Amino acid sequence: KRIFIPRDAAAVACGADDVAKRFALLAEQAKIDVEIVRNGSRGMLWLEPLVEIEDQGKRYAFGPIAPADVDGLVAELSQGAAAAGIKTSKALGLTEEIPFFKRQTRLTFARCGITDPVSLADYKAHGGYEGLAKALALEPSGIIDEVKKSGLRGRGGAGFPTGIKWQTVHDARADQKYIVCNADEGDSGTFADRMIMEGDPFVLIEGMTIAGIAVGATRGYIYLRSEYPHAATALNEAIDAAKAAGYLGQTVCGSSHAFELEVRLGAGAYVCGEETSLLESLEGKRGLVRAKPPLPAHEGLFGKPTIINNVLSLAAVPFILAEGAQAYADFGMGRSRGTMPIQLAGNIKQGGLFEVAFGITLGELVEDVGGGTASGRPIKAVQVGGPLGAYFPQDLFDTPFDYEAFTARDGLIGHGGIVVFDHTVDMARQARFAFDFCAIESCGKCTPCRIGAIRGRETMDKIMGGQDRDKNLDLVADLCNTMKFGSLCALGGFTPYPVMSALTHFPDDFGRARKLPA
Ligand code: NAI
Ligand code: SF4
Repeated sequence: KRIFIPRDAAAVACGADDVAKRFALLAEQAKIDVEIVRNGSRGMLWLEPLVEIEDQGKRYAFGPIAPADVDGLVAELSQGAAAAGIKTSKALGLTEEIPFFKRQTRLTFARCGITDPVSLADYKAHGGYEGLAKALALEPSGIIDEVKKSGLRGRGGAGFPTGIKWQTVHDARADQKYIVCNADEGDSGTFADRMIMEGDPFVLIEGMTIAGIAVGATRGYIYLRSEYPHAATALNEAIDAAKAAGYLGQTVCGSSHAFELEVRLGAGAYVCGEETSLLESLEGKRGLVRAKPPLPAHEGLFGKPTIINNVLSLAAVPFILAEGAQAYADFGMGRSRGTMPIQLAGNIKQGGLFEVAFGITLGELVEDVGGGTASGRPIKAVQVGGPLGAYFPQDLFDTPFDYEAFTARDGLIGHGGIVVFDHTVDMARQARFAFDFCAIESCGKCTPCRIGAIRGRETMDKIMGGQDRDKNLDLVADLCNTMKFGSLCALGGFTPYPVMSALTHFPDDFGRARKLPA
């Protein structure tokens, strides 16, 4: 029997390693033949550690499982019980029938949680490397055409068309080009990059290899935040396996293309997720933002043409090549094509990874899929797109998940993180937090952000203390305008989103007679 117990950091944080140890020990004592597979997470985080027992090719879920629950499971298995018949309050039935899972369209995360993340054989048995095989049969321009036709846009947050970025690097003339994967996932409430790197690292490696072949880049770097040690382990194990099997190295699958790949660890600065400071850091320097132009596509790593894409953008590519651009473009709405791995976090009953076609509304996501707040109190606000994303009140819950629809409502979908707050949240404090965050994380290069964040925090303190409220609110609005249009990068430039959305939608929290929640 195969037993699946995730090695994903979220599952491990909830005790998955202890569950796996207990399973191995008790199964040995009971003399039952089990193979424990440490898979990726299925993304239903409120059920972690989610243990799956395979029976006649079907997988039955149990969760959340504590080490003490393992005794009962093993006892039933040793008595010959079928997985479907195991009697425990933790039984959830067939994993893929759990409503949260069943409602999804998993294209990028198709294998995550299903395979052994570091088994190349398992990856290939589930359609892995079919995209690369198709890419090797195409001219580089043919690969780029597919990516363009798919409508894929940068999943890091900006939504820039991936195919056009690739075309720019393809057309640049240089003796060396690079592929850099931005794996410095820093937004609050986001974990999709981590989950795919831990649960299906080969899909990222394959996507980067295809990108290298498409633009003529022979070296790739995954810039990974050091806070993700489990991802580093999985990536390095997978890179070694891909190298050993000839998928990476001086010749990719015996072709005339070379592609070498390595993981580099960042040191924990939020601003190093901004592409130019990431490049500085990768070059061994302090993570200071560079002025653009030149774009990294023209002068990037070590001054050479460089593709920098987010993990999810690159991980979407193997599906596009394997199944064809149209199969991807068939999903979505408007100019937002394909699927988005959305991350539900904060005060939410059912948090986790939910991959779905663009177009689902914010309300469906947090109320139907997420089941409302974990605290059981009404939702007051959701922040979409990380610490620099706007807060949306309930009356904007009809907003469809789409780049343009969010922009039209002064928000952004960013990297797809949604953080839920119940009615005890004080939005003035949240606005102060945005300035505080910016002050701490600012790289210091430009004045609107370096000074503006600190002045903003001070002014918020005055407003919260009831001092010259109207005058100080005007000052905050004026400051936000300066930061939005005068900052060099998105860190200073986007800080106004949480501040101004909090002010616009929740003015009562900024009133003189503020009543703070207990
Ligand atoms: P941007 O709009 O300046 O650029 C987007 C991308 O397109 C960049 O890679 C840029 O080099 C490229 N690009 C732009 N014009 C191009 C052209 N003509 N040819 C080729 N490439 C071109 O946005 P930026 O500053 O890179 O990113 C801002 C976004 O980052 C925000 O929307 C925010 O949501 C997101 N963000 C994501 C975080 C995360 O943890 N994933 C953290 C913080 C912000
Ligand atoms: Fe640095 Fe902030 Fe200016 Fe960005 S906006 S360049 S983080 S000082």
